[in-house]
Amino acid sequence: MALLENLQWRYATKKYDPNKKIAQADINNIVEAARLAPTSSGLQQFRIIVISNQELKEKIVPIAYGQQIVADASHLLVFAAWDQYTAERIDTIYDYTTDERGLPRGRFNSYTDKLKNLYLQQSPDKNFEHTARQAYIGLGLAIAAAAELKIDSTPMEGFNNEELDKLLNLKEKGLKSVLMLPLGHRDTEGDWLLSMKKVRNPKEEFAIEL
Ligand SMILES: Cc1cc2nc3c(=O)[nH]c(=O)nc-3n(C[C@H](O)[C@H](O)[C@H](O)COP(=O)(O)O)c2cc1C
Repeated sequence: MALLENLQWRYATKKYDPNKKIAQADINNIVEAARLAPTSSGLQQFRIIVISNQELKEKIVPIAYGQQIVADASHLLVFAAWDQYTAERIDTIYDYTTDERGLPRGRFNSYTDKLKNLYLQQSPDKNFEHTARQAYIGLGLAIAAAAELKIDSTPMEGFNNEELDKLLNLKEKGLKSVLMLPLGHRDTEGDWLLSMKKVRNPKEEFAIEL
């Protein structure tokens, strides 16, 4: 299974070759894999900001506590999720879905009413925890898609979310940053992690068979 080989090949790249850029078609395919991610109730609660502008990537380095990979990578994906649930957001995506499927709007009203009853009485913070979890599904698929294309990536939570939100004006879009994913090609000379063995829990411990 090529996917498993490619997942063995990938690692959380610590040093990128700043001279190696990724073709737009490959970036599009990686973003497409994340777009196809399943989400809770199909609400598609997250978005991806695709950053290739060098100046902007460099502005993000201090926000990422000095992690230079952000600037050296060819592209930076920022995964951002709805800052909260609203009735309008739930209706918008369900109206879009029914329109796309040629169904009458409101076809799923009994279900969306349940979603609204559940989410709208919860705090925005609790709702964001839920929307952010959806972004992680997209992250996993984007990492796998990149590996299939032999493109390196580094999943990143190590940054100041509030500062990044401000820089990217995410609040205006009703979003908050969750994760970043630099994409590029490893610096085969300078990456200390490249030669190290990938370590995971033993298979017999990982899958608990009942
Ligand atoms: C959600 C998440 C956040 C992470 N944040 C960072 C980060 O900010 N900086 C970094 O260098 N690596 C980060 N990593 C990389 C992990 O340390 C790495 O994936 C893990 O040690 C497994 O190694 P591998 O990815 O090389 O197989 C993160 C990984 C995940 C999944």
